[in-house]
Amino acid sequence: MIVLFLVLNFALQFQNALAVTLNLPTSLQSGPAMLAGQALNSTTSTAFGISPVSLADDGTYYVVLQAGQISFRAALDTGSADFWLTSTECTTSSCTAVPRYPLTYASPTFVSINNNDTSFKVSYADGTGASGFVARETVEVANVSVANQAFGVVTNSNITLVDEVSGILGLGFSRQSEIYATAVNATPFFSTLAEQGILDYPIFGLSLTRNATGTLALGAIDVSVVQNFSQVVWNEVMPFSPVGTQTNTSGYFYWAIQMSSFAVNGTEYTPQPTYPGPTDNSSIALLDVGTPGLYGPYQDVTRLYGSFPSSRLVDDSGQWVIPCDSSATMSFSFGEGNSFVLEPTDYIIGPAEGNPDLCLSWPKASPPSADGVDWILGTPFLRTVYSIWSYGIDYVEPPMIGLYPRNNASAPVEPSAAVESFFSSESATIATTLPNYLLSTPTYTTSPYAFNTSVPAVSGEIVQSELATSTYSPIIGTLAVNVTALPQVSGAYTLLVTETNGAIVTSTYHISQPSVTLGVPPGWSGAAPHNLPGVGLTISILIALVAGTCIL
Ligand SMILES: *[C@@H]1O[C@H](CO)[C@@H](O)[C@H](O)[C@H]1NC(C)=O
Ligand SMILES: *[C@@H]1O[C@H](CO)[C@@H](O)[C@H](O)[C@H]1NC(C)=O
Ligand SMILES: *[C@@H]1O[C@H](CO)[C@@H](O)[C@H](O)[C@H]1NC(C)=O
Ligand SMILES: *[C@@H]1O[C@H](CO)[C@@H](O)[C@H](O)[C@H]1NC(C)=O
Ligand SMILES: *[C@@H]1O[C@H](CO)[C@@H](O)[C@H](O)[C@H]1NC(C)=O
Ligand SMILES: *[C@@H]1O[C@H](CO)[C@@H](O)[C@H](O)[C@H]1NC(C)=O
Ligand SMILES: *[C@@H]1O[C@H](CO)[C@@H](O)[C@H](O)[C@H]1NC(C)=O
Ligand SMILES: *[C@@H]1O[C@H](CO)[C@@H](O)[C@H](O)[C@H]1NC(C)=O
Ligand SMILES: *[C@@H]1O[C@H](CO)[C@@H](O)[C@H](O)[C@H]1NC(C)=O
Ligand SMILES: *[C@@H]1O[C@H](CO)[C@@H](O)[C@H](O)[C@H]1NC(C)=O
Ligand SMILES: *[C@@H]1O[C@H](CO)[C@@H](O)[C@H](O)[C@H]1NC(C)=O
Ligand SMILES: *[C@@H]1O[C@H](CO)[C@@H](O)[C@H](O)[C@H]1NC(C)=O
Repeated sequence: MIVLFLVLNFALQFQNALAVTLNLPTSLQSGPAMLAGQALNSTTSTAFGISPVSLADDGTYYVVLQAGQISFRAALDTGSADFWLTSTECTTSSCTAVPRYPLTYASPTFVSINNNDTSFKVSYADGTGASGFVARETVEVANVSVANQAFGVVTNSNITLVDEVSGILGLGFSRQSEIYATAVNATPFFSTLAEQGILDYPIFGLSLTRNATGTLALGAIDVSVVQNFSQVVWNEVMPFSPVGTQTNTSGYFYWAIQMSSFAVNGTEYTPQPTYPGPTDNSSIALLDVGTPGLYGPYQDVTRLYGSFPSSRLVDDSGQWVIPCDSSATMSFSFGEGNSFVLEPTDYIIGPAEGNPDLCLSWPKASPPSADGVDWILGTPFLRTVYSIWSYGIDYVEPPMIGLYPRNNASAPVEPSAAVESFFSSESATIATTLPNYLLSTPTYTTSPYAFNTSVPAVSGEIVQSELATSTYSPIIGTLAVNVTALPQVSGAYTLLVTETNGAIVTSTYHISQPSVTLGVPPGWSGAAPHNLPGVGLTISILIALVAGTCIL
C-alpha cells in the first residue's frame, strides 16, 4: 500500500531529518571500514535471518513477527515506512477481526513515548486509515531482534485486515515515515537495522509465491532462489528533491526506479512521464509489495492495451479487459534495458462472471500523481522476480534494487489453454458484469509537481544521512557489483502457527522452529479488556493469571 501523499507533513519531517544529519558523529565519516559480511559486534543478535512469507486472502503478503515475544502476522509493505499493530484498545470491526496487541498484558519490553501521547495516524491511498499512539517494543523479524523499536499502537482503524493479519510492516525509507516525523529517534524497523549496523549487510530479499513458500531474507539473499548471481540486474533508486524546511539536499523517499520501456509481445513503448522536466524525462516506477496489482498512467496504459485486439476500458477505476484467450507476454524494462517478462497468468486477474470470455487484467490506469510516481509495480510483477532491496550506506553507497528474473524471457508465451486451465483451477472468476458500451478515457487535470524545488535529485546520488551506518563497506552500487560477497541464506524453517480459532497452519522448510500462537503472550491467557468490569479488577485478574501460570 502506498501512504496518501501529505505535503503538509514535510516541514516537520525535514526538521527531524536535519537534526539527524547534525547529530551524526564526524568519526563515522572517516572511521575504519569493517569487512563486508561481518557483524559490527559478534555478540549482538543474529546478523541475518530468513522468514517464510505467505499470501493472505486479500492478495497481500505477510510474515509472522514478534512484538514483545507476542507473535503477529504483519503485511509487508515497501510503499510505506511505518510498523503498526492493532491493539486491544481498538474495538472497531476491522480490529476485532484479527489478533490484537494486548495492552493489558503490560509487556515488560513495552516502552512508553511521551506518556502514550504522541499520536500516530496513517491514511492509505485506498481511503482507509488507522490512528493511535506511538510506543516502543522489542520487535523480532526473521530471527533478527531490535529493542525499543518505535511502532504505532492502533486504537482506531477502518483498514480491512483479513486472515489474522494484525498490522503492516512498512519497509520504506525514514523520510516516508509518519512515526519518524513525530517522535524523536523513531526510525522505521529496517532503518534501525541499517543505521545500527545490526545486519551483516543492509539489504533484504523477497521471494513471493502464490502459496506459503515465499521468503523474506534480512541482511542476506536467499540462494535457494537466486541461483545465478550474474543475472541480478541492479537499478539505482531515485531520490526526491527536498521540500518544506530542508532546502539544500535531496534524499531517498520511495523504493522507486526509472522505467525505460514496457512492451507487449516484444512491441516496445517508451513511457511518457507525467512530469518530464524534474524526472529528467524518465518515468518513475515504485516497486511495492503492499500493492496487489499493477498501475500506470492513462497515457501509457492506453497505448499498452492498444496491442491487445478487442481490449477495452470497463470502468472509471481504470480497469481494462482483454479476451481471455489473448496470448501475449507483457514486459517491463529498467535502466539499461534488461526486460522482465510477465506471462498471461501473471497479469490476468480473472474472467468477468457476466462475460466469461473477457478477462480483467493488470495494469489498471490511474490519474496523475503529484509525486511523479507514474507506475506502481506490485505483487503481479514482484512474483516474477527475486527482489533485493539494498538500503544504501551514508557517504558511500546509494540505495539499489536488484531484480533476478524467475520467468524465462526466451520461453514461448503460455498457450491460452494453459491460461484457461490455470484460472479455472484457481476459481478466479470476478463477480462483475461489464458495461455493454465503450467508455471514453477520462481526463484529469495535473496538479503541480509536489517536489518542485530547484535542488536536483539525481538517480543513484550519494547522501550523508538516513541510510545505513557508514561503517559498512560497499558491495553494491559500485561499477562492478560482487554479489557473491553478499551474505547468503537458504530455505527457511518449519513454522507452526496456531490461529485464534485453533487451526494450525504449517509451512515446511529445512530448519525447525518452535510453534507460535498469534496475539497471545507466552504463558498468558488474559481476556480482552473491554469484557472486564474495571481497571483495578483487570490488574488483579492479570496477576492471578500470571501467577497461576507460573505455579503450573
Ligand atoms: C558488544 O556487545 C557487548 C556484550 O553484549 C556489549 O557490552 C558492547 O557494548 C557491544 N559493543 C557495541 C559496539 O555494541
Ligand atoms: C501507556 O500504555 C501502556 C500500555 O497500555 C500502559 O501500561 C502505560 O501505563 C501507559 N502509560 C501512560 C502514561 O498512560
Ligand atoms: C476511514 O476513516 C477515515 C477517518 O475517519 C475516513 O476519512 C475515511 O473515509 C474512512 N474510509 C472508509 C473506507 O470507511
Ligand atoms: C535464531 O537465532 C538464534 C540465536 O540468536 C539461533 O540459535 C537460531 O538457530 C536461529 N534460528 C534460525 C531459524 O535461524
Ligand atoms: C508453491 O509455489 C512455488 C512457486 O510458484 C512452486 O514452485 C511450489 O511447487 C509451490 N508449492 C506448493 C506446496 O504448492
Ligand atoms: C548465468 O547467467 C549468465 C548471464 O545470463 C550466463 O552467461 C551464464 O551461462 C549463467 N551461468 C549458469 C551456470 O547458468
Ligand atoms: C547544506 O546546509 C548545511 C547546513 O546549513 C551545510 O552545512 C551544507 O554545507 C550545505 N550543503 C550544501 C551542498 O550546500
Ligand atoms: C521526452 O522524451 C520524449 C520521447 O522520447 C520526447 O518526445 C520529448 O521531447 C522529451 N521531452 C523532454 C522535455 O526532453
Ligand atoms: C503474441 O505472440 C504470439 C506468438 O508468439 C501470438 O500467438 C499472439 O497472438 C500474440 N499476441 C498479441 C496480442 O499480439
Ligand atoms: C528458456 O526457454 C528456452 C526456449 O524455450 C529454452 O531453450 C531454455 O532452455 C529455457 N531456459 C531455462 C533456464 O529454462
Ligand atoms: C515548478 O515551479 C515553477 C515556479 O513556481 C513553475 O514555473 C513550474 O512550472 C513548476 N514545475 C512543475 C513541473 O510543476
Ligand atoms: C567477490 O566476493 C567473494 C566473497 O567475498 C570473493 O571471494 C571474490 O574474490 C570476490 N570477487 C571479486 C571479483 O572481487
